[in-house]
Amino acid sequence: MQVVGINSSPRKKSNTGLLLAAVLKGASEAGCETQLLNLYDFEIEYCTACDTCYKTGKCVHMDEFTDIYDIMLEADGIVLASPNYINNVTAKMKALFDRMADTVHCQRFLGKYCASVSTAGGSGAVEVADYLNRSLFIMGASVVGTVGINLSDGDEMFEKALKSSRDLGLNLADAILKKKVFPDQQKDHAAMLERMKQLISFRKDEWTNEYQYFIQKKWL
Ligand SMILES: Cc1cc2nc3c(=O)[nH]c(=O)nc-3n(C[C@H](O)[C@H](O)[C@H](O)COP(=O)(O)O)c2cc1C
Repeated sequence: MQVVGINSSPRKKSNTGLLLAAVLKGASEAGCETQLLNLYDFEIEYCTACDTCYKTGKCVHMDEFTDIYDIMLEADGIVLASPNYINNVTAKMKALFDRMADTVHCQRFLGKYCASVSTAGGSGAVEVADYLNRSLFIMGASVVGTVGINLSDGDEMFEKALKSSRDLGLNLADAILKKKVFPDQQKDHAAMLERMKQLISFRKDEWTNEYQYFIQKKWL
């Protein structure tokens, strides 16, 4: 069981990183191999919407995106962490997501499990953590849970959030181990796959790599 945690705070003493470390600790205690990556250590260019990845499976940028992406593809569990920056994730996390439109089309994260954490100065941490999970969900991952904490709630609440994060890590490991099925999510994943089948069929002459992937998966 492999779990990768990715933090998109630029700060070395990241509050969000503390929550992420606690999730990974829980996952590790439950038997997972864990790895923590700081997104700001990686060079990630912006998506230019050229569609090359849809056509060839490769990006035009020669940067460090695939260093992270290959680890995500290998992992059974993905934990994302971002502080709230103007009621959203940090730009670096969004840059990562925008490079993953092909992952959405091909539902490449089906069978994986995810969890997300966020901190905010005053508000919005839960919403940001939910957005992180929703992004992984539309790529196919099943959501195990979130922790979001606003620092203005005080030290005691932060301590509780650390404990909840460790529990989230335990739950993530449990879901991976038992290949847990979440019926509501399974239904939405099936609907998403149907939508993607229609899209890829419609674009099959242009998005040849994605079409081949669907054929190989026997989805079309
Ligand atoms: C550019 C920037 C934007 C921020 N925007 C918000 C915000 O909209 N709402 C909020 O409550 N806190 C906001 N914050 C505060 C951070 O979310 C908060 O300090 C967080 O705990 C930082 O996490 P980190 O230590 O992991 O970097 C912002 C901070 C920065 C630097």
